[in-house]
Amino acid sequence: MKHAVITGAAHGIGKALAHRFAQEGYAITGVDIDAAGAARVERELNARFVITDLRSDTGIARVLPKLIQGKPIDVLIHNAGINAVGRFPDISIENHERVIAVNFYAPMLLTAALLKADLFAKGASIVFISSLSHYTSYPGAATYAATKSGLASYARSLSIALAPQNIHVTTVFPGPTRTAHARRHSPHNTREEKRMPPEKLAHHVFRGVQKKKHLIVPGATNRMVALLGKWCPPLMAYAMRKIILEKL
Ligand SMILES: NC(=O)c1ccc[n+]([C@@H]2O[C@H](COP(=O)([O-])OP(=O)(O)OC[C@H]3O[C@@H](n4cnc5c(N)ncnc54)[C@H](OP(=O)(O)O)[C@@H]3O)[C@@H](O)[C@H]2O)c1
Repeated sequence: MKHAVITGAAHGIGKALAHRFAQEGYAITGVDIDAAGAARVERELNARFVITDLRSDTGIARVLPKLIQGKPIDVLIHNAGINAVGRFPDISIENHERVIAVNFYAPMLLTAALLKADLFAKGASIVFISSLSHYTSYPGAATYAATKSGLASYARSLSIALAPQNIHVTTVFPGPTRTAHARRHSPHNTREEKRMPPEKLAHHVFRGVQKKKHLIVPGATNRMVALLGKWCPPLMAYAMRKIILEKL
């Protein structure tokens, strides 16, 4: 039985990923701050969870001993993420720091610790959940966008560094996805049904990991938006200003 470790697996995209990988026969270890949500997923999937706050060094350190006791890791998905949205001067420094700690610092520290402890199986994959904001910008959440582009850059270099060890690295760039995170941080939720269901995203991720893809932009619309952001930045800047910034 293969083993997938997924952070932020108690809700949203992480939970959908846990279900998808479990469906394919993986044993699941979730890592999450929410004990009640984790207990639900544990019951649904016969998964096990490490309950911890990935925002702090001590919280990250708590994950390692639990994983040392388990099977080698075939797939590690850095999915837990938070956001802070608003007019830039209105967001507190503490909130900026929290976003950097969970979205960027935790995946780097956890990856380093697990590599040092040699916990990966042969042919393992490390997956980073970035964001379409890497291509589009995200006015109103500049720090979030920076952490997600930082992850993509980190993953790109790590991918080359780990290739000789036969560890594959994948970065995923989801667009709007129908979760509590999106609901919490959008200026309005009037077109929620347009967001990708997390189960569909999880399917794209599973397939991409199987195919050992380096980059996954899930869904045709997201791919088109990513291309526009890459090739026509002024148009994307105009769109993001209208869609997000002016509505904050
Ligand atoms: N939804 C979207 O539209 C979208 C688009 C692009 C990228 N993403 C990325 O996808 C990932 C998952 O997002 P989502 O929409 O599924 O979010 P979500 O519904 O808020 O779920 C995130 C999970 O991570 C947990 N978590 C948050 N902070 C944590 C911490 N400090 N330590 C441990 N666990 C923590 C949350 O627990 P609590 O619920 O208790 O906070 C929750 O269970 C994030 O990295 C996000 O940036 C999402």
